[in-house]
Amino acid sequence: MTRTFNTGGPCNPADHYMLPSIERLPMVQQLIDQKLYFVLHAPRQTGKTTAFVTLAEALTNSGQYTAVLLSVEPGDGLRDDVGQAEAAILREWTESAREDLPQTMQPPAWSEAPAGAQIRTALADWSRSAQGRLVVFIDEIDSLQDQVLIGVLRQIRAGYRHRPNAFPWSLALIGMRNVRDYKVASGGSKRLHTSSPFNIKAESLTLANFRRRGRHAVCATHHRDGPSLYPRGQSPGV
Ligand SMILES: Nc1ncnc2c1ncn2[C@@H]1O[C@H](COP(=O)(O)OP(=O)(O)OP(=O)(O)O)[C@@H](O)[C@H]1O
Ligand SMILES: [Mg+2]
Repeated sequence: MTRTFNTGGPCNPADHYMLPSIERLPMVQQLIDQKLYFVLHAPRQTGKTTAFVTLAEALTNSGQYTAVLLSVEPGDGLRDDVGQAEAAILREWTESAREDLPQTMQPPAWSEAPAGAQIRTALADWSRSAQGRLVVFIDEIDSLQDQVLIGVLRQIRAGYRHRPNAFPWSLALIGMRNVRDYKVASGGSKRLHTSSPFNIKAESLTLANFRRRGRHAVCATHHRDGPSLYPRGQSPGV
């Protein structure tokens, strides 16, 4: 099948001409190797999901990590029903892992846990059984609101000190806002009893721009593949 320039949703190298993604995350490998938790925030449609899916594949292929991008978007719209939001999120995680990870790296069946503890229990069980270091990139964190957002952040904070045996080795929250703004989005930080809703983060990062040489390289590939949409020597402004 011929590849195309994609503008609808995340890119994948089998179907789309792509610029190198991992070089847009220069500090991230170091943070992961150091067993740290961090936040990546950047505006809509800047390539966040594409970059972290690509990085997760590379980490998994390295043989050192079980790395996966998991979305919490199914919790969108469930402002206060924490249990229902957690169940929807965990169903999505099962499907994502099935698609993105090999059979031997699948999470265990999620064990029963009360509302407000299901995410922590799931990540703890998976960390205990994972081959290698479990690395989790939690995408669309901004889609959660109010009690559901607070509940997820609180569970991650609670599990953090048990890593790497009983919680992910490294974890990132990926969204549009910096983490210090989450307390505004979740109606104030008082209910968290802390000045920061995610004070275990080592860094808040944003995405580096695509590099010019990457644009030229992808256009050269496009020219080699057949009739071109772009004059030779020019590149699309991605
Ligand atoms: N490595 C890449 N090479 C070429 N184009 C890319 C690349 N990464 C992202 N894009 C472009 O950006 C668009 C959005 O990518 P992606 O869905 O990964 O971004 P996002 O920041 O996660 O978006 P959203 O905020 O909507 O979730 C893609 O449809 C594609 O047009
Ligand atoms: Mg995305």
